[in-house]
Amino acid sequence: MAFILWRSAFSVENRLIDSQHQKLVDIINRLYDGISQRSTELKMQEIFNELISYTRYHFEAEESLMLKHGYAGMAQHKKAHTEFVNKVKELKLNTLLSDEKVKMEVFKFLKNWLTDHILNTDKNTFKTHGDVS
Ligand code: FEO
Repeated sequence: MAFILWRSAFSVENRLIDSQHQKLVDIINRLYDGISQRSTELKMQEIFNELISYTRYHFEAEESLMLKHGYAGMAQHKKAHTEFVNKVKELKLNTLLSDEKVKMEVFKFLKNWLTDHILNTDKNTFKTHGDVS
């Protein structure tokens, strides 16, 4: 079973943002599978780098939409994005080098942050504006 299961409640009612969120869930699930299956450190670094670069790409897409359509609360939303990217970069080496308990804490953090951010911050930002692009 996947570490994070995509469910319809995650939809922010914007197809572009929903598809990007699904890709983020997929990357975190692949990272989790890699740890569970004891993939090589090189493979884990590749997936972690993909998570960082795709997260940045996704946040830029959201921020561009917020700017284009003048959504309220952009500064605070953007701050949450910046803090998350910094946290993921900080976690990278810890995850690769630490013991099983710490690795699981890292995955719990990723899962909780992403689902909480989608269900609260992203939904509040996008659901009232329809499927804009
Ligand atoms: Fe989908 Fe605000 O990140």
